[in-house]
Amino acid sequence: MSDAVQPALQYVDEHREQFLEELKDLIRIPSISTLPKHRKDMRRAARFVADQLTAIGLRKVRLIKTAGHPLVYGEWLDAPGKPTALLYGHYDVQPVDPLALWESPPFEPTIRGDNLYARGAVDDKGQMFAIVKALEALMRTGGTLPLNVRVLIEGEEEAGGESIEHYVVEHPERLGCDVALIVDTGIPAPDVPSITYGVRGIIYAEIEARGAKRDLHSGEFGGIAPNAIHALAVVLAGLKDARGHIHIPGLYDKMRPATEEERRMWARNPADMPAIWKREMGLDVLPGEPEYDPIERNCARPTFEVHGIIGGFTGDGAKTVIPAEVRAKVSLRLVPDQRPKAVFKLLERRVQELCPPGVTMTVTEIHGGDAVVVPLDNVYIRAAERAVEQEWGKAPVFERSGGSIPIGALFDRVLGVPVVFLGAGLPDDNIHAPNEKFHLPYFYRDIRQILRFLHLVGNDPAIAARPNVSAQRRGTTRRASTASSADGANGAAASRRVRTPAGKKA
Ligand code: BES
Ligand code: MN
Ligand code: MN
Repeated sequence: MSDAVQPALQYVDEHREQFLEELKDLIRIPSISTLPKHRKDMRRAARFVADQLTAIGLRKVRLIKTAGHPLVYGEWLDAPGKPTALLYGHYDVQPVDPLALWESPPFEPTIRGDNLYARGAVDDKGQMFAIVKALEALMRTGGTLPLNVRVLIEGEEEAGGESIEHYVVEHPERLGCDVALIVDTGIPAPDVPSITYGVRGIIYAEIEARGAKRDLHSGEFGGIAPNAIHALAVVLAGLKDARGHIHIPGLYDKMRPATEEERRMWARNPADMPAIWKREMGLDVLPGEPEYDPIERNCARPTFEVHGIIGGFTGDGAKTVIPAEVRAKVSLRLVPDQRPKAVFKLLERRVQELCPPGVTMTVTEIHGGDAVVVPLDNVYIRAAERAVEQEWGKAPVFERSGGSIPIGALFDRVLGVPVVFLGAGLPDDNIHAPNEKFHLPYFYRDIRQILRFLHLVGNDPAIAARPNVSAQRRGTTRRASTASSADGANGAAASRRVRTPAGKKA
């Protein structure tokens, strides 16, 4: 059985150059989702992905129009009796600033050593492309796929993913599947393969502080005027203290703590994460809640961060002014069962509580997404584990990511299927930063582990006997493992409507 995958693996090896050149073409399109001026580039990138899907023989390939950037969809459902996998990645990328720190231009893919440098190289164009190339290799060598697939690629992941959320909530029946594979994560260290089983949620907001109706002379009005920037500083300092404790009443009430079993699992990670993090940051301390292990702080505890402050006098020289207004971008990373909307309200209330007299503060939500921790006791995770082990020659570690991939919770909650996060990024890939890279050997590993996963899922007798593990999950672990409020109409009910393609049930 495992022999059947050899021609496809060989195809990958024989087409390394071609895959790389095509990936470079995709990377050259500056698809920065958050910047309005790249709207056309977003469409071009979506088109590029769609054309790839068409070329490898997927059906019903199309761009799905949204309020934001298009989704790319394609399917191949000609394997009756086989399970259906929903494959996800994103074609959008983060902004490139500060541009001066790039060693080669962000959208001119450049190879140095074993690495491909460019914005989006690993997050997520390279990894998303690995899905496409895995399908291509299977299709070109077998003429068919070992299972049914639906491919859904989004263009707003880096900007909050609002459009895909609406699409999944409104049309779960179009995404009927037995398992969802998300290729947008990394591994802890070189040669330490992993399966991610959780991602954090997020709530991103802007705080605007306004004092007097105009900027003031700081002597003429000093001692009697509110200072918007200082008021903001007071508020920010009140939200999180120097020991990393967040002071937002109610924040820690509903969170699900990590389990002892998880802590034991994390301890089996052969990579020395604290050392890796210190090296990456160029620091010899890991500031944060002292009573928690850094691993836990990084993936199973909420965080509060300030991303930027816009306001006041920052030019050369001196200007004696009391600023009337300032804005700050902030976010909290969340863990199950902290819901973004609820946490936003807590944040808003706390900001008002801390706001000094004479200043008004407005808190505006920018985007939010749920955390998810997926159950590990299902045949699809087993298949992923075997795929990884076959590819890397060693068993994967199981880790929770500190980052957020909002669609993970949506697939879990709305589609009600097992979610598998596979990826091959490295901690020093500089994602979201200058000189992002993809370690090229891991680009090919990514393709191959996805390919092996699809092959195993399509040929696993345990899965064939019962592809739809989610049906049995629904009443038990799954419900208990995800957030439960507010998802009534769109959650459980919709997931019950979801069916895999007609005729697939043997
Ligand atoms: N691929 C990342 C998430 C990630 C980062 C996974 C590191 C594993 C390791 C994703 O593209 C991302 O950056 N997500 C954003 C989501 C946000 C904008 C809603 C994030 O985490 O900031
Ligand atoms: Mn990503
Ligand atoms: Mn990202």
